[in-house]
Amino acid sequence: MMGKAIKKLLEEDHADIDRNTHLLQDSLTNLCYEGKAAFGKNLKELQHILEFFDDEAARHVQFEENVLFPFLKVHIPKLESLLNILSSEHESFKHHLSDFKFYLASISKMESRSERSKMIEKIRETGTYLIFLLRNHIQTEEKSVYEVLVRELRPLEGKEIEDLAKQCAAILGNGKH
Ligand SMILES: [Fe+2]
Ligand SMILES: [Fe+2]
Repeated sequence: MMGKAIKKLLEEDHADIDRNTHLLQDSLTNLCYEGKAAFGKNLKELQHILEFFDDEAARHVQFEENVLFPFLKVHIPKLESLLNILSSEHESFKHHLSDFKFYLASISKMESRSERSKMIEKIRETGTYLIFLLRNHIQTEEKSVYEVLVRELRPLEGKEIEDLAKQCAAILGNGKH
């Protein structure tokens, strides 16, 4: 039961993340093709999506890194190598997100057209990388980690898993609008 509740919260986050990858994809297309007149509007949209990734998605990653993955490594040791791969994807996510943030901040200060178009290209590349990284990552997690979580943690019902569920609710349950 507890495992299921945790899985549900995590999958709700994934649905939000997936939805935002689609918004990001649309905004990147608009930024590239709508031209100068819509530049400010498109930049604002990207900024908004960035805030989501920086806030809710980052909190999700933080829960997995600090609470869930260490817990799973102890209780389901066979997951360890997969969890290490997923952790390195988290690092890659943070790294590219911070590049993306930097590019967005720089482009709004740029005057020259050629500088801007080079920066648009960087934003598009980094954004596209983030989209595919995240979609692939959440699919792998759902299939290979969250499923196992429900199946294999059942015998652990009791204090330990209750603590895990509490931490999950405290980190992921709060702050949602
Ligand atoms: Fe993750
Ligand atoms: Fe996740």
